[in-house]
Amino acid sequence: MRLSQVLLFGSVVLVLGAAPACSQSGVEPKAAGAVSGVPVEFAEGAQKFTAHCSRCHGVGGVGTNQGPSFLHKVYEPNHHGDVAFQRAAANGVKAHHWQFGDMPKIDAVTSGDVDDIVKYVRWLQKQAGIF
Ligand code: HEC
Repeated sequence: MRLSQVLLFGSVVLVLGAAPACSQSGVEPKAAGAVSGVPVEFAEGAQKFTAHCSRCHGVGGVGTNQGPSFLHKVYEPNHHGDVAFQRAAANGVKAHHWQFGDMPKIDAVTSGDVDDIVKYVRWLQKQAGIF
């Protein structure tokens, strides 16, 4: 299943490789489901997100009753830039947008980990059409 997806995307990339304007969007899986179709370059961020953030923000960033979804306009790059993710992980967040309560700081992640996580979250947001 996964292998065949990879092969499929590989051939899509090959086909679109000839079209100059499609550098990013050409590799996006369409209906495969955001989480299962994670491109390899975001796989590490996905794994770290799942390990450290999904408990509250949900697998695939869809949110839980412990924390907000990132697939929301509020969290697009112009409203919450990448530095907001670094700050949230390093310092925690006082509840201000929602009623979930405060976010604790996440000691288990380094700023490098958060960089990977942000790349994955931005990809999820693009998949969801947030920006
Ligand atoms: C224990 C639950 C919990 C975990 C684990 C958690 N968060 Fe949060 N997070 C929250 C809650 C709750 C909020 C919403 C606070 C508010 O704005 O009301 C939040 C908000 C945020 C925000 C928005 C900050 C802002 O400036 O408004 C970012 C970014 C964020 N989290 C990133 C992360 C990342 C990255 C991880 C994993 C490394 C993570 N969170 C893990 C609960 C959690």
